[in-house]
Amino acid sequence: MPKVIHIATECYPAAKAGGLGDVVGALPKYQNQNGFSAEVIIPQYNLPWISEQTKEKVYSSSISVDNETIHFSINKVIDQTLGYALYFADIKGKFDRPSIYLHSDGKGFADEVERNISFQRSVLQWLSVEKYSPDVIHCHDHMTGLIPFMTQYSPDYHKLKDKPIIFTIHNGQYHGAFDWKHKNQLPNYDLKHNGLLDWDNQIHSLASAIKCAWHVNTVSPNYMQEIIENSDTLQSLYHQEKEKCSGILNGIDDQIWNPATDEMTYSKLKGSNFKNFKSENKNALVQEYNLVRRRPLIGFIGRFAHQKGADLLCHSIEEALSSNLKINFIILGSGDKIIEQKVKGLSDKYPREVIALIMYNESVARKLYAGCDFMMMPSRFEPCGLNQLFAMRYGTIPIVHEIGGLKDTVRDIDDGGEGLVLKGLKPEDFLYNYKRVTELYQNRTRLQNQIKFISQLNYSWNKSAQEYISLYKRYLKKVTT
Ligand code: GLC
Repeated sequence: MPKVIHIATECYPAAKAGGLGDVVGALPKYQNQNGFSAEVIIPQYNLPWISEQTKEKVYSSSISVDNETIHFSINKVIDQTLGYALYFADIKGKFDRPSIYLHSDGKGFADEVERNISFQRSVLQWLSVEKYSPDVIHCHDHMTGLIPFMTQYSPDYHKLKDKPIIFTIHNGQYHGAFDWKHKNQLPNYDLKHNGLLDWDNQIHSLASAIKCAWHVNTVSPNYMQEIIENSDTLQSLYHQEKEKCSGILNGIDDQIWNPATDEMTYSKLKGSNFKNFKSENKNALVQEYNLVRRRPLIGFIGRFAHQKGADLLCHSIEEALSSNLKINFIILGSGDKIIEQKVKGLSDKYPREVIALIMYNESVARKLYAGCDFMMMPSRFEPCGLNQLFAMRYGTIPIVHEIGGLKDTVRDIDDGGEGLVLKGLKPEDFLYNYKRVTELYQNRTRLQNQIKFISQLNYSWNKSAQEYISLYKRYLKKVTT
């Protein structure tokens, strides 16, 4: 069987900060089930799941980064229940920390550039060993964005030169751009290729990946279209490379996200009785958080970052509740301290209508997917978005801004679609939809029919896993012909 290796900085359940972790943790499993052997390598962080695993050291060596000798080893997780082989790059002094990207005060690590370069170089050195060499290399986001350049233009990795290399953009907002003064951390290469690293006079990981990868994809077709048409500094580059760009919609792991077996919800789905499933889980939430009874319950789950629009949501809740709309909200997330304060402020003012859960907690999130009536996603941009897919699987109606992957997955209920679509993010767009929420909530038959409809949709990874495999095969053919 041909083999692909996914190179990334997150992989659920080992290490997850967001959707990237969900994707890298699930896609390979479905590729293995579809006839393409898939493996994953991520850095070895000092995180609980990783520490608990029994690991076998399969390779060790060192690299010289800007005159510093960095020792590393590659460890393979024994006892595979994940559905794919998972490796960790244990790079001393760089990744053996208790978090993925940020200090506990929320600030990024000062040595981010060096960390990312040492990870990319260690992995390529290991993959250059015949026994571990894959047929296809698949990199995810800017943290692995220099790999396409390195495999093709650095003599250190000449053995990987002809391997098709695919680059997936999960979030095009982060570029991994840094000053040329870090150039000495890169492996050997002929300086005449400097242009392939550069964008706006910086070493630009994302731009370099777009230039050098054999194929570039985003995690939904619509998001690719959006960034080709409008994306600040990189627009001309996307335009120039658009022939090798495409969009492949993410899926969800429907074995892990299964309301019939989910141990973290208050109550499991029995047969296909979504009516009971929803009411049992909602009642438990209403009781636990002492919410006003018999009202629609809207949830929000996500990072408090500009992208996700939690600030706009807060504003709209204030307006809705002060104009006496009878809706409850539960907000689960953390991040931007100003937004955290806003959410807490709302909950202080409306303690029985707004619940603020300032944290990231998988188990609480699952209770919200199961128990809320609606899930709100007012993202300013969204490469794919997974929460709307999780929500629908648990019979929760999504309310989404009409952009990115949200547009590809949720059409408006009035057009026979899956949820409620926010045409814009102005206060009136929210208020108009809050009114539709209360109307829909009162129309029990329509509500139940909608729940039935969305809970039966199939967003399993199978389809997307096959699309990626076709892509790999297309490029593998090019190598052999
Ligand atoms: C990022 C994007 C999100 C996407 C996820 C997985 O977190 O913001 O839209 O679903 O990556 O690809």
